[in-house]
Amino acid sequence: MAEISLLIHDLDAAVTPVGTGPLRGREFGGLHIHSPASIAVSEDRIVAIGPPEEVIRDISSGTGFESVDGRGKVALPGLIDCHTHPAFLGDRAAEFELRSSGAAYEEIHASGGGIRSTVAATRAGSEQELRSAVERHLRWMLEHGTTTAEAKSGYGLDRETELKSLRAIQAAGHSSPIDVNPTFLGAHTVPPEFDNATEYVEFVVQDVLPDAAPLARFADVFLERGSFEAPEAKRFLQACREHGLALRLHADQFSQRGAIPLAIGLGARSVDHLEATGEGGARLLARSDVAAVLLPACGLFLDLPLPPARLLADEGAIVALATDFNPGSSFCESLPLVMNLACTRLGLSPAEALCACTANAAHVLGASEVGRLAPGYEADLLLLDAPDWRYIACDLGGDRFGAKI
Ligand code: NIG
Ligand code: FE
Repeated sequence: MAEISLLIHDLDAAVTPVGTGPLRGREFGGLHIHSPASIAVSEDRIVAIGPPEEVIRDISSGTGFESVDGRGKVALPGLIDCHTHPAFLGDRAAEFELRSSGAAYEEIHASGGGIRSTVAATRAGSEQELRSAVERHLRWMLEHGTTTAEAKSGYGLDRETELKSLRAIQAAGHSSPIDVNPTFLGAHTVPPEFDNATEYVEFVVQDVLPDAAPLARFADVFLERGSFEAPEAKRFLQACREHGLALRLHADQFSQRGAIPLAIGLGARSVDHLEATGEGGARLLARSDVAAVLLPACGLFLDLPLPPARLLADEGAIVALATDFNPGSSFCESLPLVMNLACTRLGLSPAEALCACTANAAHVLGASEVGRLAPGYEADLLLLDAPDWRYIACDLGGDRFGAKI
């Protein structure tokens, strides 16, 4: 066995999704619960996990490694937030107050507020300010156990600010312990200087995409009334795919507009939101390899109907969960809170919620070396200060992380 650098010994338990790749159908929610457990690490990779006496026997020749006492703790994979919008300046506190007195999110958007107000604030700031904001948002996520995150642009919507956002995301990612996966959300909404969506999409494809693509791994579009319809989304996504980006869609948030067949036809990685998805759409998505990313904190924040999570899971969809962290529709950086909502409002079990924030979120991001605790995976793990792993979902708002490794 390779030289050991770290031994976490005598954990009450180490809990991990089973298998490899995404978990769907009967496999969704499958966990290995090693209890008690030790984990041996060499050069940031897990080399052994299992009963303490077996792990100790395997590494008996090693010396000089760091040793962490795991008694009273449970190890879990670092959480993976596969849908976030951390690249923004300003806030939407006034809008939140307006909504609390009855104004609707879509009405605020239609009258030039909402996403466009964050666009104005983000355009007005420097690249350094934006980088500091992304760093701050990543710190908040880390405090809640996120160790891998996707991070979208989309509050620039002009050439300069979209590129500035992607550079800020990259730079913040380099200085954060979180592994950051940048997404070009060039088609978030139509900015005020354009008259129509088709013209704006042409501008983005011709003038922004060629320089944005090398700074990103994914492309994303908001396919919704008031932003982009299916033909514009298709044009944008096809062009992004030609530039080597994997495809994501914000869709079926308020209305169904053909996003699911489009996503399947384009071989997208995921469709995210799905609050308005009907039974037919859910079944179609479940039969495909396009993941369903559910964002229950956004539903809570905007008081939206719930996505058909149980139907998707039962029909065999690849179900992932994410925070949708952003200033307007989901000012929430906590995946444990999202797991709680998945259990209390979406009908998922704690085991399904854990798989959805680890193995399945890793699949959405194409991050094959995280999301599980098993030999060969990165030693990317959380130590939960709790007697039972389910505390991560049931302790509402009280994250119990003794240490993140
Ligand atoms: O995922 N739906 C579109 N985009 C974001 C909201 C952005 C905002 O309101 O600033 C979302 O909910
Ligand atoms: Fe979003």
